[in-house]
Amino acid sequence: MKTIIKNGTVVSPGETYAADILIDGETIVSIGTDLEAEGARIIDAAGKYVIPGGVDVHTHMDLQAGACRAVDDFYHGTVAAACGGTTTIVDHMAFGPAGCALHYQLNEYHHLAEGKAVTDYGFHGTAQHVDDTILDELESMVQDGVPSVKVYLTYDFRLDDAAALKILKRMKELGGVTAFHCENHAVVEDYRRMYRDRGDTSPIYHAKSRPNLAEAEAVARVLYLARLAGDAPVYIVHLSCKESLDAVADARRRGQKNIYVETCPQYLTLTEERYLDEDGLKYIMSPPLRTQEDCDRLWEGLASGEIQVVATDHCPFHYHGEKQLGRDDFTKCPNGAPGVEERMMLLFSEGVMKKRISINQFVEAACTNPAKIYGMYPQKGILQPGSDGDLVVIDPSAESEFTQERMHGASDYTAYEGMKLQGSLDLVMQRGNILAEHGVFQGKKGAGLFLKRKVNQNF
Ligand code: URP
Ligand code: ZN
Ligand code: ZN
Repeated sequence: MKTIIKNGTVVSPGETYAADILIDGETIVSIGTDLEAEGARIIDAAGKYVIPGGVDVHTHMDLQAGACRAVDDFYHGTVAAACGGTTTIVDHMAFGPAGCALHYQLNEYHHLAEGKAVTDYGFHGTAQHVDDTILDELESMVQDGVPSVKVYLTYDFRLDDAAALKILKRMKELGGVTAFHCENHAVVEDYRRMYRDRGDTSPIYHAKSRPNLAEAEAVARVLYLARLAGDAPVYIVHLSCKESLDAVADARRRGQKNIYVETCPQYLTLTEERYLDEDGLKYIMSPPLRTQEDCDRLWEGLASGEIQVVATDHCPFHYHGEKQLGRDDFTKCPNGAPGVEERMMLLFSEGVMKKRISINQFVEAACTNPAKIYGMYPQKGILQPGSDGDLVVIDPSAESEFTQERMHGASDYTAYEGMKLQGSLDLVMQRGNILAEHGVFQGKKGAGLFLKRKVNQNF
C-alpha cells in the first residue's frame, strides 16, 4: 500500500520545510512537493508538523525489580509508547539469576517481547558480573544485534570500578556503547540507613538519601574510567542534576570524546516538592526528582547540545498497589514511574512551544540522536528516502492534557496528571501502517519487529 502525507511541515535535526512524504509499503520512497501516486491513501497534514517516529532508548518493560514486577508488559507498554508517538523502544533488560550469561536474559526478553510488542524494539545487555566468559560473550551479543550494555553502579548487581573499566575497554574494541546508571552506592546506602535509623521514612527522604553529589561523583568517575579506556563510548542514563552536567562539561573540556548524555522528562519538569505531597510515593525513582535549578540547567543543556537524548526510564508500578509497599518506609517502595506515553508531547509542549528548545532540537533528542548512538540510523530517527515509514503528525494549534483516563499503560497514574499541553498528537505511523490516531490505538499485537542493531558508525 502507498501513503502520501501531504502539505505537512517536515522536521529533521537540520531543516524544517514544507513537503509531501510518499511511503511505499513500509519504506519512505520520496519526499518532495506535489507528490502523487496512483491509488495512494492521502493524509492531509496542512498546518501540522511531520516528524520521525519517536525513539525511546530507555524503557523497562516487564522488569522484575526485587519482589515487584513493572506492570507494563511488552504489549501494554508499547501500546502506550505508540499512542504517545514513540515507534521504537530499546529496553534495558532486568538482572537475571546470579552468574547468568548475557544471552540468558536476551533469550528471556525475546520471549517476553515476541508476539506482544506493537512498536519495533531492541534490547540493551546488562552486565551484572564480569569475567572472561562475559567479556567474550559481548562479541556475540553485538553480532546478535545488541551493541550496547548497561552497567549499574548501585543496586544488588552493581559493578565495581575494575569491572566497569573492563567492560568499557571491551565494548570499545567491539565498537559498542556502555551505558551507566550513575549513583555512588556507598553514599546512598549510608544515607538510607541513617534516615531509616532516625525514623525519617517518608518519601522526601528518598530524595535526601540520593543527593546530587552522589550522582555527580559517579558520573565523574565513569567519565574518568572511559577516558582510561581510551575515550571508550560512554552513555550516561537518566542524568538528573546540574553537578552531573558540570562533570560532563569538564570531561569534554579536557578533550574527552564519545560521551553521550541522556536525561528524562521527569527531571526536566518535576521537582522534589512532589515528595511532600500526599501521593509522593508516585515519584519514587532513582535518581530522585531534583530542584527547579536542576530542571533549568537540564533545559539549557538540551538547548546547547550538551545533552544528546531525552528518554523515559519508563518503569511503571501501581500507585494503589506496589508503590504502597513504601507507605511506612520509602526504602521499600519499588523504584520507577510511567512515562513512555508522555515523553513526545511533553517535550514538544514544554520544550518547543515554550521556546526552551527548537523543533529541530526536539527531533534530534527524541528521535535522531538515540537512533544514531544506538545503531538504528538511518532506518529509524529520520524522515528520508530509504528510512522506515515511521512518523508522527503533531497539530501545534490544538490543546491537550495529560490525564490518566486517556493513558494506555497498565499503571493507575500519570506523573503529569492535569498538565495542559500546547499541541496534540494526530497520527502515528509505523512502517507505513497507522499505529495510533488521536490517541486511539490502531495497531496489531505482535506487529513490532526486533531490531538487530549495528555498531554505531554515525558519530
Ligand atoms: O527508579 C528507576 N529508575 N527504576 C528503574 C531502574 C533504573 O534505575 O533505571
Ligand atoms: Zn537507572
Ligand atoms: Zn532505567
